[in-house]
Amino acid sequence: MDNLTAEQRRKSMQSNKAVGTKAEIILSKTLLARGHKHRRNDKSVYGTPDLAFKKIKLAVFVDGEFWHGKDWGKQKNNIKSNQAYWIPKIKRNIQRDYEVNEKLTKEGWTILRFWSKEVEKEALSCILKIENEINSLKMNFTERISLNTFGDKQFKVRLVEPDNSGKAILTHYLHNSEDKKISKIYKKNAIKYAKEFLAYSYPQDTITSEAVNEALQSGLFSNERIPFPPKKNPKFHFIDLFAGVGGFRLAFQNLGGQCVYSSEWNKDAQTTYYANFDDFPFGDITKELIKNYIPQKFDILCAGFPCQAFSIAGYRKGFTDTRGTLFFDIEQIVEKHRPKVVFLENVKNLVSHDKGQTFKTILEILEEKLGYKVFHKVLNSMTHANMPQNRERIFIVAFDPKQVKNYDKFNFPKEIKLTKTIHDILDQEKQDDKYYYSKNHPYFPELDKTMTKKDTVYQWRRIYARENKNNVCPTLTANMGAGGHNVPLIRDDFGIRKLTPRECFAFQGYPVDKFVLPPIVDSKLYMQAGNSVTTTLVERIGKKIVDLL
Ligand SMILES: C[S@@+](CC[C@H](N)C(=O)[O-])C[C@H]1O[C@@H](n2cnc3c(N)ncnc32)[C@H](O)[C@@H]1O
Repeated sequence: MDNLTAEQRRKSMQSNKAVGTKAEIILSKTLLARGHKHRRNDKSVYGTPDLAFKKIKLAVFVDGEFWHGKDWGKQKNNIKSNQAYWIPKIKRNIQRDYEVNEKLTKEGWTILRFWSKEVEKEALSCILKIENEINSLKMNFTERISLNTFGDKQFKVRLVEPDNSGKAILTHYLHNSEDKKISKIYKKNAIKYAKEFLAYSYPQDTITSEAVNEALQSGLFSNERIPFPPKKNPKFHFIDLFAGVGGFRLAFQNLGGQCVYSSEWNKDAQTTYYANFDDFPFGDITKELIKNYIPQKFDILCAGFPCQAFSIAGYRKGFTDTRGTLFFDIEQIVEKHRPKVVFLENVKNLVSHDKGQTFKTILEILEEKLGYKVFHKVLNSMTHANMPQNRERIFIVAFDPKQVKNYDKFNFPKEIKLTKTIHDILDQEKQDDKYYYSKNHPYFPELDKTMTKKDTVYQWRRIYARENKNNVCPTLTANMGAGGHNVPLIRDDFGIRKLTPRECFAFQGYPVDKFVLPPIVDSKLYMQAGNSVTTTLVERIGKKIVDLL
């Protein structure tokens, strides 16, 4: 809070509104100097953004901390004078910002919001964020020819629209084509994209509607050798958000469900997902365009959403109102589609994040705003899924009481005895040389000294190797992919080595004899395994949910 008197503040606010702020001018001048034309305070755009890039539909707002209610939960208590005037006024501003975000997003705009002080202190990082967004939006708008692969067939495709979801639309359509109610959301665009693929791949032929239909039915756009094909006569439908490599999907397919929509924006995770399920996930779930492809009716919403306070879209109003967070997107989807069950997974620390505020807000939204009945519990893969990995995660299961009458019978699965050891998971044969530490490696002497046992998994910690006393694998994390020595280590008959990506997937319950690890670099595969869920644990919880539907 500043030290102004009420009168000084009023003047400052008025001048803020009348002329551009210092922060706004810094951004505008630098962007112009770097060749990014835009208009300032363009009234023809809803909400009059401080900077508007109309061609690519990018709106940038620079918000004054006081005026727009930064950390409102705390700051409102700091307003000591003239509360009756300022509190409702600022609340209206916050509401207005929210409406502007909503309306512009619906109109296809991308919005970036910055706090004034953030721009004044870290102008360069804000400029780079804006430039990144400009570049990616420009990419989407320019015409590109790209190559798309369906199984072992390749198609050229011309991308001219911001929505380059062609492959996702086509694969989702094909998976759901037997269910007219679900597939209707994909049908029109699937036919359009199939026609584009064919027109660019067979330029000498005239592509008629019959030819497109024939191509769709003949399996030209499908992969015949999918390890995990959709189930016939599914018992229920689910959607897979923040899908990663499909830990939820595998579990719920095993329980007889059909996935009718998936979203995952990471290219490498999409590759792994597609190789196993033949469904290409849609991209950024914060985009209205992407959310619009979710079929209206489905039973279960699954989401292992990242615990991140702010979405890349640049909304960042703090967690007191969840907007700007990825949970906000889940909330919007639940509100619109009203699934019977919402099933979320996150790191155990979600409960203590921001002194418990984040978790409290999530529960309040699910229970009070959306009217769901919520159950949550921290479970460990080691104690609850007979998987020798020490991995604690929080699981949140929320039921719509109107659609699941006996929801109160729900309980989380009980502990089960850990009978598997790391040797049930580790490969016994010699692995590729790249996984072994050579005797010349600078860490080898330390590793050789500490790593004396073959039934223990170790971890490199700065300058020493730590033994995991309980003879299970330590929590696999996404930063294993960051290279270095984050991957757990073992001693086998052939030397000291890192776990292989395949073993990491096995420690997450993936049936690695069938699950395809595509030919992408190991660092990405480690990250995917660490980011994923223990799929057998999700299946145990999922069984308890499905039994109540
Ligand atoms: C914790 S991981 C979930 C992994 C998943 N449960 C699994 O079994 O593999 C979160 C995933 O969300 C994805 N993600 C983050 N932001 C996203 C967004 N805006 N749209 C779509 N996916 C997003 C990340 O790329 C990451 O793969």
